Amino acid sequence: MRIPVVLDCDTGTDDALAILTGLACSDMEIRAITTVAGNVELKYTSVNTLNLVDHLGYDVPVAVGKSEPLIRPLHTAKEVHGENGMGDVVLPISNRAFDSESAIDVIYREAKKAEGDLHLVAVGPLTNIAHLFMTYPDVKPLIKHLTIMGGAIDGGNMTPSTEFNIHVDPEAAKLVSESGVPQTWVTLDATLSATIEDTMIDELRTIDTKKAKLAVEILDYMVTRNRRFGIEGAVMHDGLALASVAVPSLLKGDDFYLTVETKGEFTSGKTVVDVARVTGKPNNAFVTTGMDVEKFRAWMKEMIVNEA
Ligand code: BDR
Ligand code: CA
Repeated sequence: MRIPVVLDCDTGTDDALAILTGLACSDMEIRAITTVAGNVELKYTSVNTLNLVDHLGYDVPVAVGKSEPLIRPLHTAKEVHGENGMGDVVLPISNRAFDSESAIDVIYREAKKAEGDLHLVAVGPLTNIAHLFMTYPDVKPLIKHLTIMGGAIDGGNMTPSTEFNIHVDPEAAKLVSESGVPQTWVTLDATLSATIEDTMIDELRTIDTKKAKLAVEILDYMVTRNRRFGIEGAVMHDGLALASVAVPSLLKGDDFYLTVETKGEFTSGKTVVDVARVTGKPNNAFVTTGMDVEKFRAWMKEMIVNEA
């Protein structure tokens, strides 16, 4: 059986590549995509997602989620993803409608439908997932596993110790970390190595399909933007998280106790991972410490090249 998946995202350039490759993976079935505010405002993340899914020729439902973090104003990442979240990439406008139910209701619906087998993947701020757990606490045992792109054992990309998705909505992330739902945190310790570089992009450039052309367009934007900041390649934070559902061996890591700080100029949104095992608290998450970059690149390439 294909792994039933709901993807919650804030599309976003790397979210878009996660969607493009995830939809092409025969090991998982993305049953719905839900949107949240993050990289850009909700109106953009939602429209980007719908346009993308439609352009790629899938009729997967897209449902709209929350426009603001639990208690804070939204902080976007337009400097990374461009004004509307897709950089320079212009997608044809879809005339399909969003799902008539909200993101929260759609995740609940799909969790019940999958009867305990649902794999929920969250690659944006955890606002929708926190609302889901507050609104429908009975959903928790129906989620087989939750994979989160977020946090870091060491370092950060927003402050010296916070990663964007968790920085944007720390209260939501803390609530999710304490939910008791089995969870994997795909942190910067892994995702910063998940890069796609020029050699692979040039190989993809020779492929004359709608999917490959779009992938190259997004990758080109990301690589060019990153180069201005001295970073080589396009970083597939969200692609790695989603790929790991189909190929868990992409991730290196261990079970740890993880919590989220919600206070401090530089530490609000910091994931604290008890690597030294000094708290005595039970492990509540699998947390990544690294990844297999060659295997990941091969998986990404296969998903972009295949005819799915
Ligand atoms: C995360 O932040 C967003 O900008 C990306 O889409 C990814 O989910 C990386 O820190
Ligand atoms: Ca994202």
